[in-house]
Amino acid sequence: MTLKDDARTVAQALEDYDRKGLAREGIALRQPPSSQLIQSMDLQRFATEGGLTGDALRTFVEAYLDGTIKLRDPRVMGHQTAHTNDAAALGCFIDGYASNPMAINEMGPAANAIEQFYLDWMLQKIGWSVDRSQTGHPGGVLTHGGSLANLTALCAARSAADPDAWMSGPSRDLVVLAPPASHYSLARAVGILGLGENAIVDIPVDECGRIIPSELAVQIETQRAAGKVIMAVIANACQTAAGLFDPLRDIADVCRKAGTWFHVDGAHGAAASLSPDLAHLVDGIDLADSLIWDSHKMLRTPCLCAAVLVRDHRHLDAAFNQEASYIFHEKENPGFDFLGRTVECTKSALALKAFMALAYEGEAGLCGYVEALVARTLEAARLVANQPDFEIAVQPEFNILCLRLTKGQQTCSLELRKRLLARGRYYTTYVEFLGQSWIRLTLMQAETNMDDIRGLLDEIRLVARQEA
Ligand SMILES: Cc1ncc(COP(=O)(O)O)c(C=O)c1O
Repeated sequence: MTLKDDARTVAQALEDYDRKGLAREGIALRQPPSSQLIQSMDLQRFATEGGLTGDALRTFVEAYLDGTIKLRDPRVMGHQTAHTNDAAALGCFIDGYASNPMAINEMGPAANAIEQFYLDWMLQKIGWSVDRSQTGHPGGVLTHGGSLANLTALCAARSAADPDAWMSGPSRDLVVLAPPASHYSLARAVGILGLGENAIVDIPVDECGRIIPSELAVQIETQRAAGKVIMAVIANACQTAAGLFDPLRDIADVCRKAGTWFHVDGAHGAAASLSPDLAHLVDGIDLADSLIWDSHKMLRTPCLCAAVLVRDHRHLDAAFNQEASYIFHEKENPGFDFLGRTVECTKSALALKAFMALAYEGEAGLCGYVEALVARTLEAARLVANQPDFEIAVQPEFNILCLRLTKGQQTCSLELRKRLLARGRYYTTYVEFLGQSWIRLTLMQAETNMDDIRGLLDEIRLVARQEA
């Protein structure tokens, strides 16, 4: 069998998978025990005998796809994982084949050039100039995921707040101010940086968990009076739980006045900056010192590809080495070595798939996709709020909606979700928000419509009745 034949076999299986998903055929997810999947995919035999080509490959791929969550099924409204487009998936294929570890320019010039281009595109969308003749111009790097991106950004913040920390460990009593709703990767990053999770200090928030800027100013003063040095102030665009945005411009204003580093976790919501209609949600994002933006969330890119963007590239160059700015500077390379800006050494061609997703849709296509998902979410919120037996947690701002049954308050959303998953027709997540439990939908699939939402509500009613 040639590559072409096997690729055709895989493409055929994927097309069937896509067609069945879009037609809402069968169930959206199956969760058999791993031991059963190991058997159904015949892993042991393949490991012993090899031969994964031709008909064997077809059987294997079909068994594999049968054990996936079918993200192309509009009834899947679970995690913030992109509904990828075909070109982006082909980007993964090309990268898998060429396998260029491109963090150093000479090890993947084309991938490296695309990363530069793609980062510049993102920087411009945020509202930053990419004029490299300016000292302290913005810069960035792509990482394998938003968690690593948050860690990278906080490394840059630390190099600004405590330049000797890289060589000698923290010499100042550093704290990070963050709203309690922040993604757990930020607490992890603070732990990894050796500050101890106790170094995260809560910023006072309103009843929906959004930062209150005036209270932030007070918190900064309080911390400083206690001898602490503020390493970074973190804001969310948007929160993971319910997709709400912190008021970035006002927070930036407080940070500017106080002279503190301002980091925006825009993993999910920075994509709002693509749309003139949604850009108000991230108003002030251009005033951040650093931000992260995941392409594998709202930019139709397969897992994973996240960007760390900084207002002044020199902080990122210093993040992992005090001397990085002259060791790793542009040298005589025809391109840029990203190695100094990441935790990773070998890095896949992340920008290739992200760029191919963009190039397939065009900027207007991506913008339309984001706008359509948000519009659909608002419509779904209206529909749910009008049901006599359901309530929503909060008016959504983006494409995340938290809801629950009101009738029979004793019905636990976690238990309901477990039953939904066991039936496999709809996929949702579960979240604690405002001190209560909710079923959480993230609309990522352009084809999800109000019939799907109605179907989900009926399914919830059904499993609740079964529980009673
Ligand atoms: C706001 C926010 N930040 C960071 C992350 C982590 O991103 P990743 O899953 O790519 O590591 C997430 C993931 O859901 C998120 O919602």
